[in-house]
Amino acid sequence: MDGSRPGGQGPVGFTVWMTGLPGSGKSTLARLLEARLREAHGRYVEVLDGDEVRRGLSRDLGLSKEHREEHARRVSYVAKVLSRNGVVAVVALISPYRSSRVEAEEMIGPDRFVEVFVSAPLAVCEERDPKGLYAKARRGEITNMTGVQAPYEAPERPDLVVDTTRGTPEQSVDELISGLERLGKL
Ligand SMILES: Nc1ncnc2c1ncn2[C@@H]1O[C@H](COP(=O)(O)OP(=O)(O)O)[C@@H](O)[C@H]1O
Ligand SMILES: [Mg+2]
Repeated sequence: MDGSRPGGQGPVGFTVWMTGLPGSGKSTLARLLEARLREAHGRYVEVLDGDEVRRGLSRDLGLSKEHREEHARRVSYVAKVLSRNGVVAVVALISPYRSSRVEAEEMIGPDRFVEVFVSAPLAVCEERDPKGLYAKARRGEITNMTGVQAPYEAPERPDLVVDTTRGTPEQSVDELISGLERLGKL
């Protein structure tokens, strides 16, 4: 499969749903994947990054389980409408609850949904601490931090796993692209 729609209607959209702990590498990989899909594959791409989308779509929501699930549901809806129109929606969202990701897959449609587990141990993520949030959480300045005070339910059967402790971000994106090709998405 080459990702084209039958009848020459252009490429089929899909959603790359990246889940992982804070600091695992979701935003880094989403931006690199976006560039690669545009430049090397000529695809329309929209990155839905958790924090940014929160400002645009979920300003009323906090970090409780209910609010995280509602946030994931809104992101799923946007990913659905984009990906059914030929766009590759790249979602970079902690999405710590398995139930939210199952709901996302159901909403978007299993054939358009690729779950990617961006994997790095908590200790590594905490060491990276790209936004200083783990340090704040350990000092008690923020509560409800995933991995510290709030749970993260790792995927049991993700479509792809990227271990970001092995290799550079560029190498991880190579792996992602190969994985998407293997799955027949590109
Ligand atoms: N292979 C890799 N893939 C992605 N990020 C990596 C990798 N190796 C090291 N990093 C680093 O890990 C950090 C991940 O931060 P970020 O992408 O903001 O995480 P998240 O969006 O998951 O919270 C960045 O500083 C990035 O440079
Ligand atoms: Mg991020």
